[in-house]
Parts: sequence; structure tokens; C-alpha cells
Amino acid sequence: MLYTPESVWELSFTPNVTHGVGAIEELGAIGVEFGADSALIVTDPGLVETGIIDDVTAIIDSFEYTVFDGVAPDPDIGVFETAIAKADEIDPELIIGVGGGSAMDVAKTTSVVAAHGGDVLDYVAEPTGGGQPVPGPGIPMIGVPTTAGTGAETSPVSVISLPDEDLKVGISSRYQRPNVALLDPTLSVSLPPGPTASSGMDALSHAIEAYVTRPYDAKPAPEGRDERPDYNGRSPITDLFAKSAIERIGGHLRAAVDNGENLDARENMLLGSYMAGVSFTNAGLGATHAIAMAIGAVKHTPHGVTIAHALPAVMRHNATSAYDRYAEIAALLGEDPTGLTRAESADAAARAVEELAADVGIHGGLSSLGIEDSDVAHLAERASQLERLLVGNPRRIDRDDLETIIRDAL
Ligand SMILES: [Fe+2]
Repeated sequence: MLYTPESVWELSFTPNVTHGVGAIEELGAIGVEFGADSALIVTDPGLVETGIIDDVTAIIDSFEYTVFDGVAPDPDIGVFETAIAKADEIDPELIIGVGGGSAMDVAKTTSVVAAHGGDVLDYVAEPTGGGQPVPGPGIPMIGVPTTAGTGAETSPVSVISLPDEDLKVGISSRYQRPNVALLDPTLSVSLPPGPTASSGMDALSHAIEAYVTRPYDAKPAPEGRDERPDYNGRSPITDLFAKSAIERIGGHLRAAVDNGENLDARENMLLGSYMAGVSFTNAGLGATHAIAMAIGAVKHTPHGVTIAHALPAVMRHNATSAYDRYAEIAALLGEDPTGLTRAESADAAARAVEELAADVGIHGGLSSLGIEDSDVAHLAERASQLERLLVGNPRRIDRDDLETIIRDAL
């Protein structure tokens, strides 16, 4: 059969954004727009302890609310089931996820499973789950991020840990994208420097990987619209969002880490992270995330820090296939390309990322996370199985390449 290239791209994202200092004060009015009389607020105990949840609920005077604060990092399926049981009990007309990626992931899956019934695993891909598509929109959901990194406020995916099987699975559906992203920098000022730095480097990687990932028309055409992958390649719009995200994050991460109360820096980080989320959840990612997912699964290392160590080595490996794009990234990160060859400009981009990571306190390479030379072959093998991520990598990459890259990043 003749090869038919893809000629169509799609873009979907959380369309309603309310952004800026004091945006949270509009939460009640947004609830009224959805006609809500009752809401379930999904969050974690840390945010209750800091008083942020009290501050948020103090604003709400137009509907009843119940707080579910049982979210833990890397939430397991039991957390999702408990949140859904809570929703079944109170029958809310609105779900509000407040926190990092985990709280918003639990909120979005609660919104669709509580609306359509069934078990969480019914909607997880086969063979682990039943592979059923989410049949339609869920209970309206608002994502309120308190960290700038995951892009969960616009992503269609939730990540679920299955502790019995030492496995992470996901549910992916456009109906899981929140209806509203409420981005208020005042909610992120208490995030400590370490998590600010690591989540910011994760967001930077989302934007850089989406900017260099293969374009939509460098992929085979799907059988039909339903078969088109979520990661359908970069397009003119994902490019726009990625470039703005790289510039914002590169220009403001240091300041957000240096002084958490710098609202201008926090505001740019939140917007940059949302924009990176819009870009990568449509365009796709690449080898940096494949490597970090494999290392995270085997060694349980923190995602953002693992990403920060892997990203420059992947950029250097990929440079020959995307010189011009990496040169643009160098300029967006403040490097001056005057007088540099294309190869030198691309290398300047990798160096700029390394310097940014070091400046925000992330150094020492993957070995600082306990990864040893003897782990590399197994990690490369695991990463090579993440086809969904690797298929977008700008340069063809195999198991041996992955070994070389991981070794470079040690
Ligand atoms: Fe990530």
C-alpha cells in the first residue's frame, strides 16, 4: 500500500483562562456561570495546612462546597476511587482541582467517572484496563494550579499508580481537559525553591520538546479521526505557544526561585507552564520524557529533576536533525547567536538549559539521583519501549542511542 502522509492537524485545550493577580477572587462568579449550586474541591492535605484552601473557600459565597483533601503525590487508584465515591455522595455540579498535577488529575477523572459511571480501570487503555473511551463531557471542572510545571490545567491525561503492579497507567480523553484554567500567582508564592525549580524545568522541557517534535505532516495519516493520536505533531499554533513558553520560563524561573513572592515571575511561570501544556499535549514530546519516565518508573526519582538532567544531553543528540529550531531556542533563552555556526547555536541552547538548571540549584547529573553506570542498559531498554514519546523525537533514536544519552547525562 502506498504511504499516505498526514495532512490534517487538530488542536484542543482548556479554552477558558482567567489569569492574573487576584484571579482566584472570580472563582465564585465562574461557578455561577456553570449554574453550580454545589462543588467538590479536590486537593491535598499540604494545601489545607498552608491555609490556601481556607483562603480559596472564603471567597465562595454563591454555592455549597465540600473539600476532599485525600490526594497524595503520584496518587494510586484508591485515591481516585475515594474521590469518586465522595462525588457520588454529594452529587456536585462543579469540580475544582486545587494543587499540583496530582490534585488536578484526580479532579478530572472524578469529573468524568462520576458523570458516566463505571470503574476507573474501565477507561484505562488495554491490556491493563478496559480501554473504553470516555463517552462525553464530565461534570464541569476548574483547574487551579498552585505549581507551575505539569500543565495539568489544560491536559487531557490523568496518571494513576497501581501499587500492586508497580505500574503507572493513564486515562486520556479530550473530555478530561478542564473547562477553565484559573491561574493566580498569589497561590504559588508559598511553593518552596526546590519544587519551583524542578516543576519549572519540567515545563521548559515540555515547551522545548514540543517545539522540536516532528511536524504533523511527517507522520502517516490515520485511518480516521478517531485513530489520530493525541500527540499529533507540531503545528503553527503549537509552535506559537511553545516559543512564548520557552521565553517566559527562561526569563523568569531564576527570579521565581530566588524570591517566591515575586509575583511578576510567578505570573509568567504559570502562564508559561499553561502555554507549554497547550503545546505539548497536542504536538507531543520526545526522548527527554521517554528517558525520565523510564528512570522514574525504575528508580522512583522526582520527575522535574530527572528531566532537567536529561534534557541537555538529548538536545545535543538531536541537534543535527533540528539545528535551526535549537538555534531559535538558544535565542529565546537569551543567547546571542551572532557569529555562531548553526551547530554552535544549537549547542548554545543545550548550554543555556544546563546553566539555567544549575542556577536554580539542580546540578550533579543523573548520578546525583543515584543512577549508576550499571543501571544504564536497563534504563535505555525501558525508555526504548516508550514508542508514543519516541515517535515524535526529531532524530531517529534507538536503544544504543538512549544508552549513550543516559551515560552523557550521568
Ligand atoms: Fe513532564
